[in-house]
Amino acid sequence: FVAKGLAGRRVLITAGPTFEPIDPVRGITNLSSGKMGFAIARACRQAGADVALVAGPTMLPTPREVRRVNVQTARQMADAVHAEMAAAAADVFIAVAAVADWRVANASASKLKKTEGGAPPALEFVQNPDILAGVAARPDAPYCVGFAAESEDLERNGQEKRRRKGVPLLVANIGHATFGRDDNELLLIDAEGMRRLERAPKDRLAAELVVELARRVGPAR
Ligand code: C5P
Repeated sequence: FVAKGLAGRRVLITAGPTFEPIDPVRGITNLSSGKMGFAIARACRQAGADVALVAGPTMLPTPREVRRVNVQTARQMADAVHAEMAAAAADVFIAVAAVADWRVANASASKLKKTEGGAPPALEFVQNPDILAGVAARPDAPYCVGFAAESEDLERNGQEKRRRKGVPLLVANIGHATFGRDDNELLLIDAEGMRRLERAPKDRLAAELVVELARRVGPAR
């Protein structure tokens, strides 16, 4: 049963970091490796789902039979996600990407040059769209899953973030330094309560998360 628990479902996933340009050769990014999101994409496919993976810059290989769309910036990621949803209704959206909260408002079209004794560039920032909240607010919103990297009072902050984003399920990373690692420890938070997934390789956790998803969404009828 669990093996094909998402048979016929269309699952849309964001993964990896985003990259926000400063000029044509420089930018701002973060240390997300994409491993957790890619592992979830693989596990959803193995559970029988039709999977689209919108990925920020990462060197990871594309999981088998997963359709991948590569993007750089948060805005490109948002556009790609909404384009996927317009092309075919999604049943599940899983936002695993570590999306940059801000982009550079005054990015330069040409490479910034340092000059002897010159002032360093003054970067201005503007907030990026919240992709997860945007999808959750759509009239055709799929079942939405958010991720959170909180460090303090995980349970209270997690439950609050879940409500704020308007999603039924939030997955919190327990502890720091999960970026780039092969293992992780998760807390699943929904309206009912919490369930802890003990420290394990990201592949294992992804499979456990898919079991939870299959229980909530199930295969297509
Ligand atoms: O608000 P915070 O960044 O902590 O929320 C994390 C969750 O929201 C993750 O699921 C992440 O993928 C998603 N997110 C998003 N778009 C943003 C910021 C976060 O989809 N601009």
